[in-house]
Amino acid sequence: MSEGNYVIAMDNLITGKFENIQQHTSNSKFEFIHHDVSNYIYVKGDIDFVVHLASPASPVDYLELPIQTLKVNSLGTHNTLGLAATKNAKYLLASTSEVYGDPEVHPQTEAYWGNVNPIGPRGVYDEAKRFAEAITMAYHKMHGLDTRIIRIFNCYGPRLRLDDGRVISNFIRQALEKEPLTVYGDGSQTRSFQYVSDLVDGIVRTMNSDCHQPINLGNPQEKTVSEIAKIIKELTKTRSEIVFKELPIDDPRRRLPDITRAREVLGWNPQTELLDGLKQTIAWFETQVPTVGAK
Ligand SMILES: NC(=O)c1ccc[n+]([C@@H]2O[C@H](COP(=O)([O-])OP(=O)(O)OC[C@H]3O[C@@H](n4cnc5c(N)ncnc54)[C@H](O)[C@@H]3O)[C@@H](O)[C@H]2O)c1
Repeated sequence: MSEGNYVIAMDNLITGKFENIQQHTSNSKFEFIHHDVSNYIYVKGDIDFVVHLASPASPVDYLELPIQTLKVNSLGTHNTLGLAATKNAKYLLASTSEVYGDPEVHPQTEAYWGNVNPIGPRGVYDEAKRFAEAITMAYHKMHGLDTRIIRIFNCYGPRLRLDDGRVISNFIRQALEKEPLTVYGDGSQTRSFQYVSDLVDGIVRTMNSDCHQPINLGNPQEKTVSEIAKIIKELTKTRSEIVFKELPIDDPRRRLPDITRAREVLGWNPQTELLDGLKQTIAWFETQVPTVGAK
């Protein structure tokens, strides 16, 4: 919108929050349509670009909503591709590092095919995104649709749901509510976290590129989950202890993006240091957790 575009956001709010976009509703360049994209999509007028971001994104959500997750990444991808084809629009699919499953190759390059358990609990997300990539490439090859695929590695920042269940939101909420910080497994599993504004920059650069191959968007600064817990403990100055719980089935041991393609094709490089990003995220969570300081 700041670049003069008219934006139509379509969401059934199954896991999202309307408050996160409420500030745009008075903007004449913005329109919100409450709709489940797994059903047929109709939009009036011309469209230049379709960006398919709809999906439950946190493991807590997609384990609770397995069928909806499979549908939005299969039928929803089909419908959004169909919309782009009808409107002669460009297309971007938000895929995920989860297509690599529990990877046996580090760092993960786009050439790696992954190690996914199709019938494990996470299969509903991982396989659905793999299907979404396959159908996107099929539309590109069969119909010449101008498509792009990004594989997003863990992203964090303000406006995460407090109960969204991902590592960073969990730790910050627990620290601010003075609850123990729960680490799953022994905490030696790693994640590579990117700040939301870096990811948005990568998405916009991908939209403006003509690369049809998948592109990893992630921050190669790898940290163990225990390290993240300690950093958040220090930044929030909480006296909460760190406790360990059983590792969920098929939890990936290591996540580390190779972002050579994004650097070369997009000239993209994440700019935000973890400490800075966490400080900004904590500051936002402090405005959301009503009990801060009360316990
Ligand atoms: N955040 C990450 O770390 C991450 C990592 C990898 C991939 N991704 C992918 O990026 C995309 C955006 O993720 P996010 O973190 O911004 O999640 P988000 O929850 O903020 O946004 C996803 C939105 O999709 C909506 N949605 C789900 N099913 C829908 C349906 N059938 N019809 C219409 N709307 C529907 C939800 O209500 C939600 O508002 C998702 O596709 C996710 O799988 C995110």
